[in-house]
Amino acid sequence: MSYVIQAEGLRKRFGDTQALDGVDIAARRGTVLGVLGPNGAGKTTAVRVLATLLKPDAGRAEVCGYDVLKDAVRVRAMIGLTGQYASVDEELTGSENLRMIARLLDFNRADARDRATGLLEQFGLTEPGGRAVKTYSGGMRRRLDLAASLINRPEVIFLDEPTTGLDPRARNDVWDTVREVVADGATVLLTTQNLEEADALADQITVVDHGRVIAEGSSAELKSRIGRQTLEVRAAEPYRASQLTAIVAELTGLHPTVQEPSGLVTVPVSDPTLLSAVVRRLDEADIVAAELALRMPSLDEVFLTLTGHPAEEADTESVPERTPA
Ligand SMILES: Nc1ncnc2c1ncn2[C@@H]1O[C@H](COP(=O)(O)OP(=O)(O)O)[C@@H](O)[C@H]1O
Ligand SMILES: [Mg+2]
Repeated sequence: MSYVIQAEGLRKRFGDTQALDGVDIAARRGTVLGVLGPNGAGKTTAVRVLATLLKPDAGRAEVCGYDVLKDAVRVRAMIGLTGQYASVDEELTGSENLRMIARLLDFNRADARDRATGLLEQFGLTEPGGRAVKTYSGGMRRRLDLAASLINRPEVIFLDEPTTGLDPRARNDVWDTVREVVADGATVLLTTQNLEEADALADQITVVDHGRVIAEGSSAELKSRIGRQTLEVRAAEPYRASQLTAIVAELTGLHPTVQEPSGLVTVPVSDPTLLSAVVRRLDEADIVAAELALRMPSLDEVFLTLTGHPAEEADTESVPERTPA
């Protein structure tokens, strides 16, 4: 089987909440699958099913070819899990935590020490490795969690929102470690609410909302699915901004957005030949453009188009319109 993680038709209900409403997931060996969705989308529930911690009401899932229900013990031997469940002991040092987990995984004392030392080094934790975990920053803590999940060299790693709440620098450190793990041959399923994170790390992205998959593909595929790009233009002389906006409005028949104070005018365009028309009109009007570009939509714009709501401010009251896939 070419998919290391494969799930079909997963359903799970908690009381009145249909947390998973028929979810399909597939990740190829040695890749990062990003499961992207707002709070409450069903991401953690899906990870718990795949990690054998939760029985689905319906559907089936295999990890490394083993059924998560029938072969749960084998699945557990293949996976590492981190995120909301990682349980390192605050009072112990980083090194003690890793050695303890290694011992629980049947490493002998010397092997446990070597593995702990190696992982601390790999994750830039050699110095703090000798300190109690309660003294760690959020980023160090996440990296230790990730290291702990890798002790038995799992083939498949589940990272449930590994960077939520981290500052950008700590987040970048976690991203680097994820890239290293994948370079070493592991397959990673990473959940995130953050589009930039999915864009940065994921080979394939499965977008979930309200327990359903609403889109999937690479970041570029999802962006091109929208079928339009964004025109960005800014006048070198700020006082020409309103004239510039009027020209763009006339050419596109749309109301451009003007960012203040930069004066950057943006508008969605579906006709790529529009760019040359804009250039001609600016030339005629003697407006010098300081910036002029067509760019692909951001994943934020993709998410908004697909779901009718922004990714990070899910409106659970409204039932979003679903764009046909
Ligand atoms: N154990 C549970 N009991 C009741 N409701 C739950 C439970 N776990 C999750 N839910 C609900 O299921 C939905 C999906 O939750 P979850 O999978 O945690 O979403 P996500 O991880 O994407 O934020 C949410 O509405 C959540 O409140
Ligand atoms: Mg969650």
